[in-house]
Amino acid sequence: MESGSGALLTDVDGNTYLDFVAGIGVASLGHGHPALQQALAEQSAKLTAGSFTTAARVRLLKRIADNAPSPELCQTQLYSGGAEAVESALRLARAYTGKFEILSFWGAFHGKTAGVLGLMGSEFKHGLGPLAPGQILAPYPDCYRCPFALSPASCGLHCVEFTRQTLKMQSTGSLAAIVVEPIQGTAGNVIPPVGWLGAIQELARECGALLICDEMITGFGRTGQLWGQQHFAITSDIITFGKGVGSGFPVSGLLSTKEIAQSDPWSRPSFSSSSYGSGPLATAAADAVTRVIVEEKLSDHAALVGEELRQALQSLADKYPFVDEVRGKGLLLAFELVRDKKSRIPLPKSQCEQIFQLCLRRGLLTMSYSPRVRINPPLVITREQALEGVAILDEAFGEFLMHSSAS
Ligand SMILES: Cc1ncc(COP(=O)(O)O)c(C=O)c1O
Repeated sequence: MESGSGALLTDVDGNTYLDFVAGIGVASLGHGHPALQQALAEQSAKLTAGSFTTAARVRLLKRIADNAPSPELCQTQLYSGGAEAVESALRLARAYTGKFEILSFWGAFHGKTAGVLGLMGSEFKHGLGPLAPGQILAPYPDCYRCPFALSPASCGLHCVEFTRQTLKMQSTGSLAAIVVEPIQGTAGNVIPPVGWLGAIQELARECGALLICDEMITGFGRTGQLWGQQHFAITSDIITFGKGVGSGFPVSGLLSTKEIAQSDPWSRPSFSSSSYGSGPLATAAADAVTRVIVEEKLSDHAALVGEELRQALQSLADKYPFVDEVRGKGLLLAFELVRDKKSRIPLPKSQCEQIFQLCLRRGLLTMSYSPRVRINPPLVITREQALEGVAILDEAFGEFLMHSSAS
């Protein structure tokens, strides 16, 4: 790729592509946004290193606090990568509770560094052991393929009770935190049923543990609310964020309450800082990006365009036998590619890759190379572009169907 503008990318041969990926939720403002360009150009001419307080940093920290899910969440510490922020959140929870165990979920992804690798609920970690001790995993409510073969309409949130029992049997009684994605991104933009996140928060309380919502993908506007947890009417004790907050510049962070952030030793000078976290370039970038998201109400835009996109994708699911379970909140959407809707057996990877290529040749970059197709375009995508992307998917699916019924 050579350049981009909004939701469009241009390669070195001059071909253009509509971007339904956005660097997996990173490019919130899309590509080549003038506000980010100007902030970085101006800041790089003035001051580029050192953990100094700059005007941009003050504006950024105030904006994050002003737009937090609750006024108590007002203390921010910045980092440069997602895993780094989640690891710091774990250290903070340990410092606050004096305990050490962490519960996460099947399908979870919190990064690849040693402190979070064991919290990953997938085969990604195979071959990378040994893992850190004190990490416990329980099933996420992936209702399309419920691990208990139950249905959300009648299961009574059986998975919450199972998690409670899992903790009883596997924990040493020293749970510091439950870390959870309000909507699981890497697992396939999986949305938990109503009531689940609240019940998990209740479980954390029962155990004297903190609830950490990892909002790396769901944070700052993507889901049609500023924070993913707002869809589930809860406020976590700690939020981790990153990705779209810098729209390409590496910035991440955690947000918590004054009481929790004062925990010793996390709060001691230099105990929770990092070389780049609050650097002048990072804070200038995140200041510009979050300003545009808030001022231009991009979360409302994500809600509106996302709903139209979801409905258009649903019409594809109604039309094609291999497209199922369209789901989404705002511009965090997904659908399943399956052999058939009854068995729900995922389409083999080679066939998904075929669909990926069919889309790419028509000018759509989308994550259809695996059967849980995640759709997370830049928040600035226009309604017309979103519908054009669905039209390309329609053509690609049509051609795929013709080929697969012929073979
Ligand atoms: C929910 C979540 N947490 C943490 C991470 C890790 O972020 P990074 O790749 O910046 O370390 C990711 C990355 O995809 C993520 O989706």
